[in-house]
Amino acid sequence: MTSLSRRDFICASAALTALSTVPAVAATGIKTLANGKTEIDLASNTALNSVGGVVELSINKYGKVAVVRTSKSSKGFAVLNLSCPHAGVTVKRNINGWVCPPPRGHGSEFALNGALKVGLATSALKPITFTATKKAVTIA
Ligand code: FES
Repeated sequence: MTSLSRRDFICASAALTALSTVPAVAATGIKTLANGKTEIDLASNTALNSVGGVVELSINKYGKVAVVRTSKSSKGFAVLNLSCPHAGVTVKRNINGWVCPPPRGHGSEFALNGALKVGLATSALKPITFTATKKAVTIA
């Protein structure tokens, strides 16, 4: 039996931490507008009050989507398509942002704003067009 060095243990722990996912917060207060856009009421989604807050929802034309609070500005959001750009597996939240979880995914990692951190993927999570006011985020 081989023993694990302290360095190996720390590296293995860091890799496991990166791949560990955290539970998603489902968006509430979702309305489909007459023009087909999706409106997310901010008063109903307190997770978005704080920078770094995230809610997730499904939209027919995109699949799984995340709304991320990126700054305190009333327009400080990102809306991301959670389909991994490598092979389409749905990415999950982890403590550092997003991870494409094994066994279906291949471990790509993305920052909370969708920027690529670690491949196999070669591009960021796809941003989705939106508008924001103090009351709602509206996804095109
Ligand atoms: S599908 Fe995400 S890394 Fe391969």
